[in-house]
Amino acid sequence: MPSNLPTHPIALPINPADFSGVDVYAVVGNPIAHSKSPAIHRRFAEQTAQAMHYGTVMPELGAFATVAKAFFAAGGKGMNVTVPFKLDAQALADILTPRAALAGAVNTLWQHDGVLHGDNTDGAGLVRDLQAQAIALSNASICILGAGGAARGVLGPLLEQKPKSIVIANRSIEKAQELQTAFQGLADTHGVLLTVCPVDALGSQSSHAAIEIIINATAAGLSNDSPISDAIAKRIFRPTAFAYDMVYGKVTHFMQQAINRGCRVSDGLGMLVEQAADAFLLWRGSSLTTQLDARAVLDELRQELAAKAP
Ligand code: ATR
Repeated sequence: MPSNLPTHPIALPINPADFSGVDVYAVVGNPIAHSKSPAIHRRFAEQTAQAMHYGTVMPELGAFATVAKAFFAAGGKGMNVTVPFKLDAQALADILTPRAALAGAVNTLWQHDGVLHGDNTDGAGLVRDLQAQAIALSNASICILGAGGAARGVLGPLLEQKPKSIVIANRSIEKAQELQTAFQGLADTHGVLLTVCPVDALGSQSSHAAIEIIINATAAGLSNDSPISDAIAKRIFRPTAFAYDMVYGKVTHFMQQAINRGCRVSDGLGMLVEQAADAFLLWRGSSLTTQLDARAVLDELRQELAAKAP
């Protein structure tokens, strides 16, 4: 059923009606000032010669639906949605892609014929970033740390790569079990062994010795904490393992623990750029795929971050 647009006109920080002849997009979050999405999409628009404006919108907590409805009613073409509104975006969308329904969250919205569509490109972004870094996922033994929205968002696309196994390790085992239940069907379809484990018990089972890829999908990195103790790190980080933190722009404690054990590491900046690339192609058309160079945008962002580093 299409959204009822508009309800009451509200003052928008970016009013699509002010940009005649240019398609208007925005990233919506709270806070949002730190977002790299406008810089990423500006570069994508340059690469593909698209006339578009991409800004930021910061609704008050609880006001996402009102703001999003007003944005689309005023002619806005699409939105990226970030913390803490991905669940609100899922609730607002009239139609969800299967991967957004499974993820339980939406990071990309667009309107077509008055119908609001929602997708989640986070997991595909992670998979493509790992592939670009030559990390083989097929038949791999993977550990996901965390069982919140970030973990849920990437589990589906990871399972579709047919790894040998995925263990979801979380502080509270109940949340990990909820995820396991939600994704067991997909795991069975792809022949993946999906298990759960309290994070403190990581390394205690013989199968954990074979873990090759450890992905930190907890919020711990934001406060420069690690979800695992140094003792656990010693048990699960073999020198041939690869450690990925979804946080970007810094070497987190988790990444440092992996480096100390001789592992290859990555932050999540590539995932950010790749999920944005998928959103851009959903909005502007997949025919632009060959013109879009996400890795070049990633290189530029890395250089900017390095130049700003103290
Ligand atoms: P997000 O949407 O970013 O995933 P979330 O849904 O609040 O946020 O989930 C945060 C995840 O990070 C959870 O798995 C949480 O563990 P619990 O389920 O046990 O709460 C995990 N997390 C957050 N801070 C952590 C920390 N300091 N150490 C370990 N896990 C942490």
